[in-house]
Amino acid sequence: MKARIVSTGSYVPEKILTNHDLEKMVETSDEWITERTGIKERRVAAPEQATSDLAFEASIKALKKANLTAKDIDLIIVATVSPDMLVPSAACILQMKLGASNAVAFDINGACTGFIYALSVAEKFIKTGASKRALVIGAEMLSRFTDWTDRSTCVLLADGAGAVIVEPTKKDEGIQIIDIFSDGTMWDFIHMPAGGSQMPVTEDVIKQRLNFIKMRGNETFKVAVKTLEEVVDVTLKKGGITSSELSLLVPHQANIRIIQAMAKRLALPMEKVMVNINKYGNTSAASIPIALDEANEQGKIKRGDYVMLAAFGAGLTWGAALIKW
Ligand code: ACO
Repeated sequence: MKARIVSTGSYVPEKILTNHDLEKMVETSDEWITERTGIKERRVAAPEQATSDLAFEASIKALKKANLTAKDIDLIIVATVSPDMLVPSAACILQMKLGASNAVAFDINGACTGFIYALSVAEKFIKTGASKRALVIGAEMLSRFTDWTDRSTCVLLADGAGAVIVEPTKKDEGIQIIDIFSDGTMWDFIHMPAGGSQMPVTEDVIKQRLNFIKMRGNETFKVAVKTLEEVVDVTLKKGGITSSELSLLVPHQANIRIIQAMAKRLALPMEKVMVNINKYGNTSAASIPIALDEANEQGKIKRGDYVMLAAFGAGLTWGAALIKW
């Protein structure tokens, strides 16, 4: 028994924030952001939206494409670091909004690798028979946790959601290999100091702006390039194929330079790499399912194609999945 993605959907908020808009907010330039990150614009949610609303829109699209209703789903996993609130999970709020009364719902925090973490868990549920049809979502509203006075992070982080539906298959298709990893010794490379049990939000915390995401970008960059290339290489070997047999690589959209370095090391032409960071920035757990849905919609993936997903993020976490579409 294998697990197969049968449908994809995505949603990004309407409001576009361009690099030129950011030039008016912090000391930066369109040129710097474009050259160093590949980002031209990103989406920012409306004040009345919460993360589960973005997840809802993406889920509805994935359900519609598969001709299913929410009642057909028995497992909902939301990968997010920016849930509506700490308690309860965004997945339970989404379950209510969808009316998915036959499902069990929970969140996973794997940061930018969150979607691959969630897909890995769903795959185990499907393979063991514990789930017959799973809805796996990556949804983020990083704009609410971004320090809009910190130019080193506010040009990167953004909002969006992507969803997939996963079902069992007895054929030689679907998820061939999926592996997830973490190394907590580098937990402080990307973190949000306050807002949890260690440092509750106080007036002083707000003054020091500790309730926002902090990132040691340059150090993260170096580990990301090396780790991503390694994890894709190992996953290809485990799957018994070479990079030339891959039809598409769908990497986490953190930085175009990380993506290009990875493609180069894997000897993969950029035409075989899905890139949409220019439009959406870094949407953490949402970036892979959004990119996967766009690739699917654009007809870049055909049945039987080998597709590789690969991500790296806070934790530190990383992972990859080799899929026979
Ligand atoms: N505009 C203009 N200048 C800037 C900006 C900006 N927005 N941001 C930083 N700079 C300056 C810095 O102050 C620094 O100036 P200095 O040399 O005078 O000190 C200079 O640019 C270079 O800064 P670096 O941080 O070394 O720039 P770098 O080339 O590393 O790019 C970036 C920074 C884009 C953050 C990059 O390091 C990166 O993408 N890192 C990896 C991010 C990542 O993969 N994260 C994991 C996923 S995120 C998650 O899990 C939520």
